[in-house]
Amino acid sequence: MADQAATLRNLVGQSNRYAKVITFASGKGGVGKSNIISNTAITLAGMGVRVAILDMDLGLANLDILLGVSARFNLTHVMSGQKKITDIIIPGPNDIMFIPGASGVSRLANLNEEERTFLIRSFADLESMADIILVDTGAGLSDNVLQFALSSQALVVVTTPEPTARMDAYALIKTVHGKDGNIPIHVVVNEVTSEAEARRVYSSLNEVSRKHLSFKPELLGFLPCDPKIPAAVKMRRPFVLESPRSPASKAVGVLSADIKKLFLPNSGAGKDRVPKSFFSRLFSLLNRPA
Ligand SMILES: Nc1ncnc2c1ncn2[C@@H]1O[C@H](COP(=O)(O)OP(=O)(O)OP(=O)(O)O)[C@@H](O)[C@H]1O
Ligand SMILES: [Mg+2]
Repeated sequence: MADQAATLRNLVGQSNRYAKVITFASGKGGVGKSNIISNTAITLAGMGVRVAILDMDLGLANLDILLGVSARFNLTHVMSGQKKITDIIIPGPNDIMFIPGASGVSRLANLNEEERTFLIRSFADLESMADIILVDTGAGLSDNVLQFALSSQALVVVTTPEPTARMDAYALIKTVHGKDGNIPIHVVVNEVTSEAEARRVYSSLNEVSRKHLSFKPELLGFLPCDPKIPAAVKMRRPFVLESPRSPASKAVGVLSADIKKLFLPNSGAGKDRVPKSFFSRLFSLLNRPA
């Protein structure tokens, strides 16, 4: 699986014609993944990037609430063959494309290999429509999370300074790196009181990864603890729209600019796009005998 994922990443990495797929995950739940993804997506879209968000938190999907949209159809309808993936896309702020998961549908949280492959194949249609696809996942390390992480351009591990969150972040890094040593892993530290604290948290993760895995995750960015975030969540409004001048919104601005620079270095991306399928490549690679 790791070799196939690496081949895939290389194929995709060489070209700007394919959407860059970035999976966000954490060990511990509630560290801010969904808030960071939704607000980063809106900010990136404001910078002219075509962004899709895929809600793969198949147990407790709630991005629709954070985005203030309501989803009539979701991935369960795709799984059952009633809808195509393109039928369930909901346009969000700044024209982001939101693909809703399926809250509370535990069947989707426990897909078998065949079902997961079917779902992944149905995502093929998305990649010609977006420059970047941000994938939100549930907490912890299910097969769904691992599969997406390994097939993505990069994994972003979100943590807070809490020791439990850091330990779980390390466990996630260790598992993913153990499966595929070539996947780029980036760290976002959320709910910090200062940049210095973010750097300390990153350094401790880096130190332990270096010592035990001989591996260096990269620091992608950080967000301050900001009461505007829970306030916006209560209103079902993305905080970058509700409080654009808040410290959290400014931090997301920096994070988004860095993501754009890192993953879309030649930012003319999107103009000369050939509809070619990242996900069908993934599909065929996964199904090729090892
Ligand atoms: N930087 C921050 N400052 C203050 N509160 C925050 C911050 N980031 C997130 N929160 C709060 O933390 C809670 C969890 O955030 P969120 O739902 O984005 O986490 P999650 O990692 O997606 O959770 P889950 O693992 O359950 O999917 C939210 O109620 C949000 O208001
Ligand atoms: Mg979430």
